[in-house]
Amino acid sequence: MSALTLGILISGRGSNMHAIADAIDQGTLDTSIGIVVSNNPEARGLDRARERGLPFTIVNRRDGRTRIERHRDILKALSLAKVDLVVCAGFDEILIAEITTAFADRIVNIHPSLLPAFGGGMHATQDALNYGAKVTGCTVHFVTADLDNGPILLQRTVDIREEDTEESLAARVLEQEHQALPEAIRLIAAGRVSINGRRVRIAPAPVSAVR
Ligand code: GRF
Repeated sequence: MSALTLGILISGRGSNMHAIADAIDQGTLDTSIGIVVSNNPEARGLDRARERGLPFTIVNRRDGRTRIERHRDILKALSLAKVDLVVCAGFDEILIAEITTAFADRIVNIHPSLLPAFGGGMHATQDALNYGAKVTGCTVHFVTADLDNGPILLQRTVDIREEDTEESLAARVLEQEHQALPEAIRLIAAGRVSINGRRVRIAPAPVSAVR
């Protein structure tokens, strides 16, 4: 079986993309990055992609075209790069149905809360603090047409401390994201993930043959 080709969608800092590229370089994630697509020409993640020599393209969300027109270009870029799995890593737009249909069950997103808590927005960490939650974390889920509501692949928890600010809490959540996203891709790449309705089954790791 040949390794999966990833298409990574970003809008900003790109630290999750960086974590994926690190895992690939360290030999712990057997995939390749076919294309990074940013909808923001100013994204810091683009500098990281340039530094690492990752192929990237920009489909500017402020180029005056409609979201449908722009996302069709994203779909073309993903198809041209022969992407198997799309990874939304801090991508700040809802994908058009043509993309979620073309890549049904083959798009994952990372969200900085334990979904379904604090989904649907861009301030999940502050929302968890404001709500008085004692635990938050991150979720890797499959992307469907329904925002932040696709089947959950994995979650990691983070305790909320009395003294936490949005920054301190977001930093600890981000550490977990950088583990969770490569781990989720690793499981998919290993063929261990199956979706049954809302439930995602992760098959046990195969026992290596004992010589
Ligand atoms: C992360 O917190 C992710 O959960 C959210 O957007 C942020 C992206 O961070 N969807 P980065 O661009 O990967 O550094």
